Amino acid sequence: MSNNLLKGKRGIIFGALNPDSIAWKVAERAYEEGATLIITNTPVAVRMGETNDLAKKLNTVVIGADATNVDDLNNLFIKSMEILGGKIDFVLHSIGMSPNVRKERHYSDLDYNYLDKTLDVSAVSFHKVLQTARKLDALNEWGSVVALSYVAAQRTFFGYNDMADAKALLESIARSFGYLYGRERHVRINTISQSPTITTAGSGVKGFDRLLDFAERMSPLGNATAEECADYCITLFSDLTKKVTMQNLFHDGGFSNMGMSLRALQQYEKGLHHNCNCDEPEDGHKYD
Ligand SMILES: NC(=O)c1ccc[n+]([C@@H]2O[C@H](COP(=O)([O-])OP(=O)(O)OC[C@H]3O[C@@H](n4cnc5c(N)ncnc54)[C@H](O)[C@@H]3O)[C@@H](O)[C@H]2O)c1
Repeated sequence: MSNNLLKGKRGIIFGALNPDSIAWKVAERAYEEGATLIITNTPVAVRMGETNDLAKKLNTVVIGADATNVDDLNNLFIKSMEILGGKIDFVLHSIGMSPNVRKERHYSDLDYNYLDKTLDVSAVSFHKVLQTARKLDALNEWGSVVALSYVAAQRTFFGYNDMADAKALLESIARSFGYLYGRERHVRINTISQSPTITTAGSGVKGFDRLLDFAERMSPLGNATAEECADYCITLFSDLTKKVTMQNLFHDGGFSNMGMSLRALQQYEKGLHHNCNCDEPEDGHKYD
């Protein structure tokens, strides 16, 4: 259902790889709400994924850009303004990748070249997007920029590895840049801390199925879906949230403020008759 919340607004959406991607749902909802969009992803993702199909569906084009490459970002913003016919009103940063997670490196045995890559792709790219936009004066006054985060930025989660550090940095960049851009141009910058969601990036996290189930049982409202995340993004891109900035906003059914729920406790009790030998995990990593 459309309420024309984004009528006349121009947006850039990073990170739509396939229909499971959170960015894919956000792009669809933004279009439904009256926005005109540019879809972007890395050139290799554009070749291998389904990003072009999304652009066709939304009557627009894909501009390839590696979000860690400032030249690519310059080109992206300049071309987007040309194609859409003016400055940009909203940007979604929906980007995450950790070679340490992909190669199953343990957190106490990180490859530091991989760590550099994790931080660059998953966090510093957000700074690069903002710095490029500001230098080009590419965002309209009262524009809105949103990046997607995860609660592992604040609390330790088994298996999230160096992505936890990347998310902590991402949220810090939202605050630091939010101050600057807010004062100068009234641009607001926030992160949304989303529930675990079944996507290509999400499924790469160790023990993801169990994490999904645990979060579902812990959250009074249940896990938030990708579609619900898209709805929340629309509110942040709209003029209804003009004074919300520099925030990390939990969109997780209440998970982040829970200690223990009855549903999770009951499930735990069912397993109590069986000693899991938790000091001897199957993969040999103690205290994983
Ligand atoms: N899925 C979850 O459980 C979950 C939970 C909380 C937050 N998030 C965050 O949501 C965001 C989107 O992830 P998703 O779950 O939709 O998975 P996804 O795999 O569909 O999206 C990740 C995207 O990042 C893109 N990307 C990777 N490297 C890039 C680069 N250098 N430049 C530009 N784009 C690049 C990929 O091509 C892909 O489109 C990520 O920031 C992720 O950490 C996901």
